[in-house]
Amino acid sequence: MLHVEHFITCLITMGKVIAICNQKGGTGKTTSAVNLAAYLSLEGKKVLLIDLDAQANATSGLGIDKLKVSRSIYSALLEDAPLTDLILPTVIPNLFLVPANIDLSGCEIELVGVMAREYRLQKAIQPVKDDFDFIFIDCPPSLGLSTINALCAADSVCIPVQCEYYALEGLGQLLNTISLVRENLNSHLNVEGVILTMADFRTNLTREVIAETRKYFSSDQLQVKVYNTIIPRNIRLSEAPGFGKPIALYDKESLGAKKYLELSYEMLGLGVEALDINSHNSKSNIELGENNVQ
Ligand SMILES: Nc1ncnc2c1ncn2[C@@H]1O[C@H](COP(=O)(O)OP(=O)(O)O)[C@@H](O)[C@H]1O
Ligand SMILES: [Mg+2]
Repeated sequence: MLHVEHFITCLITMGKVIAICNQKGGTGKTTSAVNLAAYLSLEGKKVLLIDLDAQANATSGLGIDKLKVSRSIYSALLEDAPLTDLILPTVIPNLFLVPANIDLSGCEIELVGVMAREYRLQKAIQPVKDDFDFIFIDCPPSLGLSTINALCAADSVCIPVQCEYYALEGLGQLLNTISLVRENLNSHLNVEGVILTMADFRTNLTREVIAETRKYFSSDQLQVKVYNTIIPRNIRLSEAPGFGKPIALYDKESLGAKKYLELSYEMLGLGVEALDINSHNSKSNIELGENNVQ
């Protein structure tokens, strides 16, 4: 039964483009983009990660020196370079990267004068879309033209929300932008789901934010999915980018690793029980529960 479900999920998810988006900085966009991309590729999916942020954290997080990147996604957006010329291999065989570099910092302004400026990324992705099972776009912390390009190119949006004070602040504006894009620019855009990140289960604040976020997104008007899997605050997750590695290669036994693996399964539509049958030894994760912060 599981195999049939998995097969159907694979069919549905063929060539799916997912923008990881929140205009707030530091909500876990890059960490989620890198680690979901890594785990899905380790699960046998062919995955492309597009780094759309001039800070190039996804690029360096995958071990590529952003100072040595001569051609970035900028070349596709503003110089008509084919995406295939920009795709780099990474430490994981099934995972590929279109890097960012500092060129992107001028992109917002330079795009203004370009014809069909909202669709530059969609146009670039189109020829390679079905070469990949998943294409993730790591968005910058703004709702400017780069993010609008990501929303126009995407089939769906994942929204990482940090379990902190003011977690819900700005989400109304983000959801409004998504609605406007859906109405005017990309009618098939969906919200894939909300990822609760950096949870510290020792605090009441985390519990309150989780409850409030679930309540907010489950309202009749929104009905947006909040993933069951919650990403804990975990020191190993914050160390891994410094070593240019996704958590799967840096410390796969850490709680952060286990939770991103679990989230990748949830995204594939597989239940946590599926984790028991693979080689990741993730059962301990479920037994650990969510009360542990390593
Ligand atoms: N679950 C986590 N636990 C601990 N640190 C985290 C976690 N997620 C992200 N971080 C750290 O928090 C900072 C912001 O995360 P990042 O993914 O870069 O956010 P964004 O891309 O939204 O700006 C980074 O230093 C990152 O390493
Ligand atoms: Mg980022």
